[in-house]
Amino acid sequence: MQLTLDRPKLISLAAGFTDNESLPVEETSRMLRLILSNARISRESLQYGSTAGDAVLRKATAERLKKADQPAARYDGNYKSDSVLITHGSQQFLYLMTECLCDAGDIVLVEDPTYFVYLGILQSRGVAARGIRLETDGLDLSDLERVLEDLKEKALLPRVKMLYLVSYFQNPSGVTTSARKKADALALLRRYEKHAGHPIYLLEDAAYRELRFAGDDEPSALTLSRDRVIYTGTYSKPFATGIRVGFGLAPEPLLTVLTRVKGNHDFGTSHLAQHIVRAALHSKAYQKHVGVLRERYAAKAAVLCRALKEFFPPTVNWQVPRGGLYVWAQAPCDTGQKSPLFQRALEKNVLYVPGELCYAEDSTRPIPQNEMRISFGGATETEMTEGVRRLGIALKQLS
Ligand SMILES: Cc1ncc(COP(=O)(O)O)c(C=O)c1O
Repeated sequence: MQLTLDRPKLISLAAGFTDNESLPVEETSRMLRLILSNARISRESLQYGSTAGDAVLRKATAERLKKADQPAARYDGNYKSDSVLITHGSQQFLYLMTECLCDAGDIVLVEDPTYFVYLGILQSRGVAARGIRLETDGLDLSDLERVLEDLKEKALLPRVKMLYLVSYFQNPSGVTTSARKKADALALLRRYEKHAGHPIYLLEDAAYRELRFAGDDEPSALTLSRDRVIYTGTYSKPFATGIRVGFGLAPEPLLTVLTRVKGNHDFGTSHLAQHIVRAALHSKAYQKHVGVLRERYAAKAAVLCRALKEFFPPTVNWQVPRGGLYVWAQAPCDTGQKSPLFQRALEKNVLYVPGELCYAEDSTRPIPQNEMRISFGGATETEMTEGVRRLGIALKQLS
């Protein structure tokens, strides 16, 4: 992100920015006017709120999730507003959750590859990550079982606290893990937690759930268990990333601990920002905007795929995305930060995310060196086409 901001000529197919043109400027100013012209709400929004978050927004969040999970939402308790913590983006929830649940030396299971910023959180807390292979339809359950068995044999299960799963249009691979696979993964965690001596949670990160432009929604893991699923989502990517409002749901006693620790961090998420989201949900401006974004990203993904087909050598493999912001590609050459490809791309003023960054430090397997994440979020259609053309030239020269 910094490189993108520092080098204005750089075409960034790397940064996780969302589409700039479609940011809801009009809607947000309308919401702000509404909020600030109301005698009571204006003062409320400019005052401290509660650490757990605005009561109306928590309720709306729980209700929206329940609706999205219908008809599979069978555990009413999972969709109570009391189970919702409003956070400064879902990023803060991920940090808080890790801080509260994990001690240094603990282990979190992650997908191979995974959201690399989360790997940074784990690293900063001294928590180890074990990678679980990912298939085109989500988590590889036999690999999950193999890793759990290995940890059991090494008497390391007591250190395992959770499985972190980016289940919808995953960052970076674009893969979605089906509800059936999530159920099977939970069953495996249950089986092995007997040897851990404490719960092993499934932390479902649904940051891209609303950015679906093909196929049907999958029920969340909240439909699968009343006490082992932690869920986080966001109002940032589907509306405005700068709003920085996200949320998380967790069973007790986790939620109380998370709320106390959040209080130590910040007393609660920006009350004004929460009021904007609340007003946007109430007026349906939010829902309308999600519809606009879905069409926008479908169009941008199509432009990117057309460019990939035209300019990349046929030896590069990639999947057509059905949602989210990313295409994950396998090249016939090294793509790492120190590779000639990455250097040549930089010389040509194009940036992608080297796939190696998305893998945990896990000595039990090598890190693939030939992958790259290409985003259709921030760059314009013209930039994407030009960026892929330049990258294609570099790839053809080096492979
Ligand atoms: C998988 C995933 N989770 C969480 C986040 C955090 O997003 P936010 O804090 O804007 O909700 C991101 C942002 O890129 C992400 O890719």
